[in-house]
Amino acid sequence: MARILITSALPYINGIKHLGNLVGSQLPADLYARYMRARGHEVMFICATDEHGTPAEIAAQKAGKPVAEYCAEMHQVQADIARRFGLSFDHFGRSSSDRNRVLTQHLARRLGENGLIEVVTEKQVYSIADGRFLPDRYIEGTCPNCGYERARGDQCEECTKQLDPTDLINPRSAISGSTDLEVRETKHLFLRQSRLRDRLDAWIDSQSGWPVLTTSIAKKWLHDGDGLQDRGITRDLDWGIPAQFPGAPWEGMEGKVFYVWFDAPIEYIGATAEWADAHGLDDAAWERWWRTDKGADDVRYVQFMGKDNVPFHTLSFPATLIGSEEPWKLVDYIKSFNYLNYDGGQFSTSQGRGVFMDQALELLPADYWRWWLLSHAPENSDSEFTWENFQASVNKDLADVLGNFVSRVTKFCRSKFGESVPEGGAWSDTERALVDDLESRVRAYERLMEAMEVRKAAQELRAIWVAGNEYLQSAAPWAAFKTDPERAAAIIRLSLNLIRLYAVLSAPFIPFASARMLAAMGSTDDAWPQDLEAALTVLKPGHAFTVPDVLFAKIADDQRADWQARFAGRRG
Ligand code: MF3
Ligand code: ZN
Repeated sequence: MARILITSALPYINGIKHLGNLVGSQLPADLYARYMRARGHEVMFICATDEHGTPAEIAAQKAGKPVAEYCAEMHQVQADIARRFGLSFDHFGRSSSDRNRVLTQHLARRLGENGLIEVVTEKQVYSIADGRFLPDRYIEGTCPNCGYERARGDQCEECTKQLDPTDLINPRSAISGSTDLEVRETKHLFLRQSRLRDRLDAWIDSQSGWPVLTTSIAKKWLHDGDGLQDRGITRDLDWGIPAQFPGAPWEGMEGKVFYVWFDAPIEYIGATAEWADAHGLDDAAWERWWRTDKGADDVRYVQFMGKDNVPFHTLSFPATLIGSEEPWKLVDYIKSFNYLNYDGGQFSTSQGRGVFMDQALELLPADYWRWWLLSHAPENSDSEFTWENFQASVNKDLADVLGNFVSRVTKFCRSKFGESVPEGGAWSDTERALVDDLESRVRAYERLMEAMEVRKAAQELRAIWVAGNEYLQSAAPWAAFKTDPERAAAIIRLSLNLIRLYAVLSAPFIPFASARMLAAMGSTDDAWPQDLEAALTVLKPGHAFTVPDVLFAKIADDQRADWQARFAGRRG
């Protein structure tokens, strides 16, 4: 049994996330967490809302609420939607927690004591019209790297380059749109990341088997020299973690807060401490996940995120931890995702384009979305959500292949043998061939899940469902029943056992339907199949089951057209 720490990129607090956000981090992280738990490993799955910085301030302002109140409310909203999507976090924390403040200030103090933080007088963009400095998302303009015209002051979403507001071409205030800007001097803390270049380089080189997307982004920013520029880690904002605190090895930072990207990843640790607090446990309980001197040396730490987050997780956050000279656990594997597009364009929170998590759940239960999103995860390239494609996969994979199998088997059994597993007959070569086939498919599925090959794992799972259908079709118990009821009983007994097996194997993808399948089979045995023959004889003759309601309803054409039209414009 291994110990696996899993973190999903923290969703910004600034509103309900769209399906593109979901599939880029939280959902595949949940898939992996559920799978690893099912395999008997000890899992700590952590997420939280990312509550500081300009995204939070801007959203609160739009909602007409004090930012602390807005964040508290939106945290509840996001926690509730996450639960309804089946995201099985061990803890869903808040980056504005006390735990995170204390940890962030502690790490900053260590970095300062180690000569890695300096107070620098720097030039910042000041908006005359708005009467304030414009850090990060308060300013927009053209990316000097790729020419994208809506780049934000902290990062270009298009090419992932980290930016400073003064880098932008044709800058404008995101608050008022004003271009009446000037550069003024202000004092900030700077993290001397460049001094850690060699150590970061060596650390990245020592990582084996990172996915190409992750390593190429990391190396690019490391070697272009750009990603490792010394960066300001404080901002002229009210909302955030105060940069001046008792014991700080600097002065004059009153009224400034840490940059959101400095404190957000620290909340991975903070949220684990919040988890311990919520369970009445002491510090040792979270430290054994995070401190290599306190047990975390045998933890495997996997992070999930969209590609725009990669530089912060391969360079900035490791720089914080390494620079502290304390034995913090560093990430072992970063699984990053490309973007999911929406019907010929981009999903966009600011433009309200696409389907958002709350809306998705109003249309259909979580499993429909989970299945489509995971089986189309943007792993090797961007992928696209279209309503036609969504309808086709739901109808084929979920309704025709899996749902129909469950319904045919249980209904046939009820009408011919009653609502318990029939006895009589024995496995023939057909059954043994199926078991052999499943044996190798299940092992392939395990390898893909371990490797976090999300799409391929979904394909293999689907192939496992298809194998059952093909078996049923060729064994044809309805025909056998007329001449040889014992033969039909053997086929149906195996098929009912297949339903239980499918519930277990499918649970990481479609946990709600899996729970219903298992309940319908009257079983609580959700042990992962070590041996397929044994797994397919768990339900013995005489064991009672029930016929479940329709597992997955088909999406009709007019329904699809309706949704397509409803979601064509902006979110209202
Ligand atoms: N809120 C960021 C985003 O949505 C992700 C933060 S991840 C963490 O892009 F590392 F900061 F936690
Ligand atoms: Zn760019």
